[in-house]
Amino acid sequence: MSEKIKIVSYQEGEIKNFIPDIARLRIEIFAEYPFLYDGDFECECKYLEKYASTKNAIVVVAYDNNQVIGISTGYPFADQNKELKRVFQKSKRNVNDYFCLAESILLKQYRGKGVGRKLFDQLEVFAKDFKQYKYICLFTSARPADDPKRPKEYRSTGPYWSKQGFCEHPELTFEDSYKEIEDDKETQHKMIFWIKELDLCQ
Ligand SMILES: CC(C)(COP(=O)(O)OP(=O)(O)OC[C@H]1O[C@@H](n2cnc3c(N)ncnc32)[C@H](O)[C@@H]1OP(=O)(O)O)[C@@H](O)C(=O)NCCC(=O)NCCS
Repeated sequence: MSEKIKIVSYQEGEIKNFIPDIARLRIEIFAEYPFLYDGDFECECKYLEKYASTKNAIVVVAYDNNQVIGISTGYPFADQNKELKRVFQKSKRNVNDYFCLAESILLKQYRGKGVGRKLFDQLEVFAKDFKQYKYICLFTSARPADDPKRPKEYRSTGPYWSKQGFCEHPELTFEDSYKEIEDDKETQHKMIFWIKELDLCQ
């Protein structure tokens, strides 16, 4: 990782200052395949306010000089919405055991240089330090391999999450409704959960 990239973590109230930066980054990166998410700045800022008021929420920020180039965010899964918690409850999982990695995103030109791993590593340290979560969970978009919208050069992040110690759980899925770029209404998108057990002894 280049020496000029700085990684800094923020918690709860401190997060408020970064909401516009996170919103801009989310809109730019989630517009890419496989999300193709048509984000709106105002809605994003409103959605992100929950980080600033959620106990144990974390935002890890990567900077190139003073520019925010990547983030990893997380909060207790118990603070997720009811539909997502229901997925875990239906499989007899205790939502209080899980810390949720909400997003880990990095501008394209900085990828493949170890920055993403650093962001995740710091988030994991925080998740462990709370000493109340047994697992970290996240969900990814589950588009089919023969999806006609899939760009030729696209690399799924599945192998990346496996490298960070996550296992895919095809039995834990849900449909997320959002508007894709160039669509005029929201459509359903299948999401799959990935889970990593936290080794609390380290
Ligand atoms: C996912 C993401 C944050 C990873 O960041 P990154 O800086 O590119 O990843 P790193 O360089 O730290 O990679 C760590 C390891 O994973 C590997 N890796 C990274 N992306 C990979 C991929 N798509 N497929 C397979 N391996 C991958 C790297 O080769 C590296 O392996 P190594 O340790 O053996 O060298 C970044 O690619 C990204 O922002 N992607 C788009 C947004 C996204 O899909 N986010 C996840 C859902 S929120």
